[in-house]
Amino acid sequence: MRAVRIEEFGGPEVLVPSEVPDPVAGPGQVLVRLAAAGVNRADALLRSGRYHRAGRPPLIPGVEGAGTVLAVGAGVTGFEVGDRVLAMGEAGRPGFYAELAAVDADRAVVLPDGIDLTSAAALPSAWFSAWYCLHRLARIGAGQTVVVQAAASGVGSAAVQIAAAAGARVIAVAGSAEKTAWAAGLGAHDTVDTSVYAGDAAVDEVLRLTDGRGAEVVLDLVGGPVFTHSLHEAAPLGRVIAMANVTLTPSTVDTRDFYPKNVTIHGFQLTNLLENGYDPRPDLRELAEAVAAGRFRVPVRSTFPLEHAADAHRRLEQRENKGKVVLVME
Ligand SMILES: NC(=O)c1ccc[n+]([C@@H]2O[C@H](COP(=O)([O-])OP(=O)(O)OC[C@H]3O[C@@H](n4cnc5c(N)ncnc54)[C@H](OP(=O)(O)O)[C@@H]3O)[C@@H](O)[C@H]2O)c1
Repeated sequence: MRAVRIEEFGGPEVLVPSEVPDPVAGPGQVLVRLAAAGVNRADALLRSGRYHRAGRPPLIPGVEGAGTVLAVGAGVTGFEVGDRVLAMGEAGRPGFYAELAAVDADRAVVLPDGIDLTSAAALPSAWFSAWYCLHRLARIGAGQTVVVQAAASGVGSAAVQIAAAAGARVIAVAGSAEKTAWAAGLGAHDTVDTSVYAGDAAVDEVLRLTDGRGAEVVLDLVGGPVFTHSLHEAAPLGRVIAMANVTLTPSTVDTRDFYPKNVTIHGFQLTNLLENGYDPRPDLRELAEAVAAGRFRVPVRSTFPLEHAADAHRRLEQRENKGKVVLVME
């Protein structure tokens, strides 16, 4: 099959199209002919050797994809050849930048009609993460205010829609007027453009928008110094969710920024959650059904052919993308 492999860690140029042996469905697995694979920040970190859970090359990157079942392994129930499915994996296993993937059946979900495979490929990482953080960790609800840092990103564009659909007031924070306008189009009620409100000015603007109180929930998709902003933007009894460190700059925490306000900090890491027993399939089914019913739209603004995975990574790392970047196999 065609796949994109990393033979050594490095820049986007190490994503090399290759011919590799076809995988087979082992016990408990289904073999999927992939139509699309999501591209994530973690893939770029893996490629460059900076991912904290990285294996060693040679590796096929990609942690999510969607396609059609080609074969069903021993002991698997609930799947038939020809089913349209989405699937998730973990860094380097099985690797979704490929035409075929043998995926664990307990990490795959049969798709409803009405959702295309490119959109479905974007759900397992960004959309599941936003859904879990907002509904399961933060327990968002109507009347609450939710700040989304990096609101035009893959995760952010999901979070804006999920929070707005739950009846929350969404403040979208993003790095340009184009990005904030786009986030407003996804349902954000207020926006903060960090090219105008840089550094602490972004905090002041969030506090101004909330009459000095802050937000009940802050979803931090950036980390580093922005994590301190997130703590300052939280209301009394609020929840701050830390799930990223885009710049790899350490986040330093002053406990006085949260305990005097009774603010709770939640951590989230997808692979760790799954390793510790969380079954993502009910949430993924709910998300796929919501997309199929038109309640959410998955903004895939950039698609690249499999062979051009290096360009997809360049796009992601230029910080210009809005929504998800997806590889299509064709
Ligand atoms: N913990 C988990 O399990 C988990 C799961 C999924 C994703 N994540 C993480 O969540 C974050 C968002 O993921 P994503 O796929 O939505 O990312 P993405 O689409 O690539 O967006 C990342 C955004 O971060 C912002 N940013 C701020 N400072 C930056 C900097 N110095 N360099 C680059 N970007 C910077 C940019 O938005 P602005 O220009 O608007 O500032 C950028 O568009 C990533 O860090 C990712 O690794 C974590």
